[in-house]
Amino acid sequence: MDKYEQVIEMAKRRGFLWNSFELYGGTAGFYDYGPLGSTLKRRIEQIWRETYVVQEGYMEIEAPTVGIEEVFIASGHVGGFSDPLCECKNCGEAFRADHLVDKIVAVADTLSDKELDKVIRENNVRCPECEGELGETYEFNLMFKTQIGPGSGRQGYMRPETAQGMFVDFLRLARFYRDKLPFGATQIGKSYRNEISPRQGVIRLREFTQAEAEIFIDPNDKKHTNFSRFADTLVNLYSDEAQDRGIVDKMSLAEAVEKGIIAHEFLAYQIGLTNHFLQRVGIVADKLRFRQHKKDEMAHYAIDCWDAEIETDRFGWVEVVGIADRTDYDLKAHAAVSKTELSIYREYSEPKMVTQFVVKPNMGKLGPLFKGKAKDIAEALKAMSVEELEKDNIKVTVDGEELIVPKEIVEFAEETVKISGENIIPHVIEPSYGIDRIFYSTMEHAFEEEMVAGKDDTEEEEARIVMRLKKEVAPVQVAVLPLLTREELITPAKNVEIQIKQKGLLVSYDDSGTIGRRYRRNDEIGTPYSITIDYDTLEDNTVTIRDRDSMKQVRAPIEGIADLLYEMIYIGRDFESAGKAL
Ligand code: GLY
Repeated sequence: MDKYEQVIEMAKRRGFLWNSFELYGGTAGFYDYGPLGSTLKRRIEQIWRETYVVQEGYMEIEAPTVGIEEVFIASGHVGGFSDPLCECKNCGEAFRADHLVDKIVAVADTLSDKELDKVIRENNVRCPECEGELGETYEFNLMFKTQIGPGSGRQGYMRPETAQGMFVDFLRLARFYRDKLPFGATQIGKSYRNEISPRQGVIRLREFTQAEAEIFIDPNDKKHTNFSRFADTLVNLYSDEAQDRGIVDKMSLAEAVEKGIIAHEFLAYQIGLTNHFLQRVGIVADKLRFRQHKKDEMAHYAIDCWDAEIETDRFGWVEVVGIADRTDYDLKAHAAVSKTELSIYREYSEPKMVTQFVVKPNMGKLGPLFKGKAKDIAEALKAMSVEELEKDNIKVTVDGEELIVPKEIVEFAEETVKISGENIIPHVIEPSYGIDRIFYSTMEHAFEEEMVAGKDDTEEEEARIVMRLKKEVAPVQVAVLPLLTREELITPAKNVEIQIKQKGLLVSYDDSGTIGRRYRRNDEIGTPYSITIDYDTLEDNTVTIRDRDSMKQVRAPIEGIADLLYEMIYIGRDFESAGKAL
């Protein structure tokens, strides 16, 4: 069993996650989160909210998960969000063509469909399931199509990223933030990708949770006012150039910006924040790196992108966050399709005197010539350059129709005017998190199997599975365990449970099985502390607190126990200081 199998086996058994639709045999790419899994996932999401919404101030919005076609035409997903698909002519099984040849060519994901077919034919690649002949490769769009409304309805798609909601709402968000850059908005929610043949379990899902921030910045000011927070943070950077050398560089973010390895401070700050978040939820620092996209792997909307990658036992380095510089791609694209200006007015600190050409279309002449189109033509003329307007026959395109406007009915003049500001199209920096992958990696990095000594010299060593989850993400933070299922112990145990719950901690009351088995069960699900109520409790109102990691125990009074646990879980209070060592 490799670690993935061990973690997933435990996850299913203990109620973290399992395959969806098990009752009907299941289908690839869908997982259900069970009671403990849902709680752990919410804890991770909550820390994300605290990081991006509360601390950074990028307020959360909630847009529909179904989108209308125009949105995804503008975003480029209708035209280009596809993977190369290749089907077996014999058994009909579908495969990612680039995955079929990735052991033969190093850059399989950059090849065209024709190039992939060539590699497949030349190397006699056959169907991995039945050895049958493979058909020609074609592009398969990964969006789930749906129909909005009855009858012929309206074409809709399940969103492939939450990001578009923030772009579509740009004007409302800009007003909300009083037109001041930078500002940002976030969403945590489901996205959908109809993956061709997901074979990586919980790592590649067809329905998954994204947490994304779209941060709108001034294209002329990519400095970050709080950069000093992460300037000295050391990160593992695997830049485009470092990948050619095959060596990851450990360096401070300040040095990386100074050397031009990371293009600007704003991007570097986001890398620092991601590094901070991932370690806070429990990702091991040595198994975390930031890899820059090569030019030929960049998404259609990005000019630069750094992936946070986490090392896993079975899948190697897995991308869990993409931090992209999307420039003004999305706002321009939505402006073009919606025919609405998506910009922000920026006032200069001092007004400027500017000499400019002012176009003066003669409506008295345009009207009779072009009738209903005259107004649109006048607008188009105003947006044209002097060179274009100086031509004898001025070409104007209105609603896709090219029209010729005689030069003499367009006047333009040079004027010096006072300008107090300008409309700018913000650029977008986007940290995009795949929460499910982070959830799994958090479990894998916390998961350990170790040998522990038996209770006394006569007992043999035994294996213990322990998940050393961070205390603030653990789905159960405190287990309350009466030593025996006797009324006189159950009543004080229930009282202790209520006290701890009232403090807002996640508590589980457990009285089934021997105390040793209950400790093991809680070690396995990552419960940091167990409280045992025994007969001494009835004498002196004290309980035993057991620490998951060291298995050490201390004795502490019931009075104030909830505050004590809270401090140990959230404020970093030392376990040894919690009571009298046993
Ligand atoms: N928004 C980036 C992505 O979904 O990949």
